[in-house]
Amino acid sequence: MQLKIYKDYHSLSEAAATEIIELVKNKPDAVLCLASGDTPRLTCKLFAEKAIKEKIDLSNVTFIGLDEWVGIPPENEGSCHYFFQHEVLTPLHFSADQVHLFDAISENQEEECRKMDNIIFEKGGIDLMIVGIGMNGHIGFNEPGVSFDKHSHVIDLDDTTLSVGQKYFKTAVSLLKGITLGLHHLRESKKVLLLANGAKKAGVIQKTVEGEITLSFPASIMQKHSNGFVMIDEEAAGLIEK
Ligand code: F6R
Repeated sequence: MQLKIYKDYHSLSEAAATEIIELVKNKPDAVLCLASGDTPRLTCKLFAEKAIKEKIDLSNVTFIGLDEWVGIPPENEGSCHYFFQHEVLTPLHFSADQVHLFDAISENQEEECRKMDNIIFEKGGIDLMIVGIGMNGHIGFNEPGVSFDKHSHVIDLDDTTLSVGQKYFKTAVSLLKGITLGLHHLRESKKVLLLANGAKKAGVIQKTVEGEITLSFPASIMQKHSNGFVMIDEEAAGLIEK
């Protein structure tokens, strides 16, 4: 794992967006997996702007959505689905067959997981995964305590995720479970960028890069990734000692 510190959120997002652009230029049939949420929002916007400006052909790219709130329909503005659609997929005219998002309102969530695992396997694995980090150290919805070996799975959300998660929704929703790619997928991804910005992420970033590698802090798995990059702004780097 490597640590990269940027001056601010904008330069961090520029760097992450450039990583996506370089990938799709070099590998037009790349498999790209993104998280939703506040952190990657500007990365997505800049990626979309650059791809349009440079007229990059994305028609062979496969897009994988990292996770979703179980029971929340795609038209809800707080869903991950809504985020992906509005920030990336619609602006860049991705066609439905290029896009694989968990259907969080399917009655068979286990089947959703197996479908996602099969797609990733059939496509030859994920080339680039871009994730955020939760205030409890989660990645996707890999909550504290989850095995590092999990494939896609449904999980009871941690109390921190349940309370922080309300920020995405205009009106209060009942959140209980998440459906997510597992940390096996992260470990197997050819490249992983974990992004974080702002002073409120300084504590979890310090644990991610300097703490013990432990199931109780899922993001600590980044330390083991040989092509993993923790990309943060100066505020999120505030508590790092080394
Ligand atoms: C969302 C996701 C989550 C977020 C994390 C940080 O798809 O996978 O793990 O990345 O909760 O969220 P923000 O970026 O809103 O601080």
